[in-house]
Amino acid sequence: MKNAVKKLQRSAKRQMRRIAEFRGIRKQSLGQYQSTVRRLYDGPRGAVLKFSSIISLHEPLMGALFRSRRFDASRFNRILDVGSGAGQIIRHLLATANPTAEIVGFDLSYEMLKRARERLASSRPSFVAADMMAMPFRDESFDCITCGYVLEHIPDPLPGLSEFARVLRPGGIVLLLATEDSLSGLLTSHTWKCRTFSRDELRAACATVGFEWQREHWFTKFHEVLKLGGILVELRKSEQPPVAQ
Ligand SMILES: C[S@@+](CC[C@H](N)C(=O)[O-])C[C@H]1O[C@@H](n2cnc3c(N)ncnc32)[C@H](O)[C@@H]1O
Repeated sequence: MKNAVKKLQRSAKRQMRRIAEFRGIRKQSLGQYQSTVRRLYDGPRGAVLKFSSIISLHEPLMGALFRSRRFDASRFNRILDVGSGAGQIIRHLLATANPTAEIVGFDLSYEMLKRARERLASSRPSFVAADMMAMPFRDESFDCITCGYVLEHIPDPLPGLSEFARVLRPGGIVLLLATEDSLSGLLTSHTWKCRTFSRDELRAACATVGFEWQREHWFTKFHEVLKLGGILVELRKSEQPPVAQ
């Protein structure tokens, strides 16, 4: 009986997602997708991102996650922040990572990186503009990747996650934040022209490229009860290469 109810809930959620989610990115070629993202984030909407992240409380809530050491950034030596945007995560890395750790900001939008650099006013992070599906870094060159609300911008998460697995050393950690297929996530998908994920499907995609789903977080109890803030998860790259399916 319990299983039947769960099955019914899952199917209702799938239907809701089919109707309510922004579907645009699933229909675009790679070139079209890249120019859509660049247009969106280079332009005025990208320029207000730093304010909207503060107003939505998303940036301060992320800060609390780092400062409380629920996500302890001080254990890493080389940290890559994928889809840095206006530096929302790098700001907290600068405050909580080991002072000797190297921090690299990475984004498809050159304009966003310029905004992050101006806003952070720190010479410590370096910045690289490219696509997360083809990152210009050597294999196993980082021990931590942070990635806040970026993976949902690519139609299929696997090319992005495979690149994470390639540039991360075995045992390395990813802090991944992603838009969930909840009611608030479906609304977000229209604002930011992105897709959403169910936890099951994201977990399966992570396992395919050799990531263990280690620990889920919620910003606050309130977020957990109302299913707000999306999927916040720590992934660990396993020491063994993934088994081919
Ligand atoms: C919603 S913002 C997230 C900003 C920040 N990480 C945060 O947590 O608030 C998404 C960012 O991902 C970038 N982005 C989208 N697709 C990307 C890709 N394929 N490769 C690298 N960056 C990408 C966008 O340019 C944008 O700056």
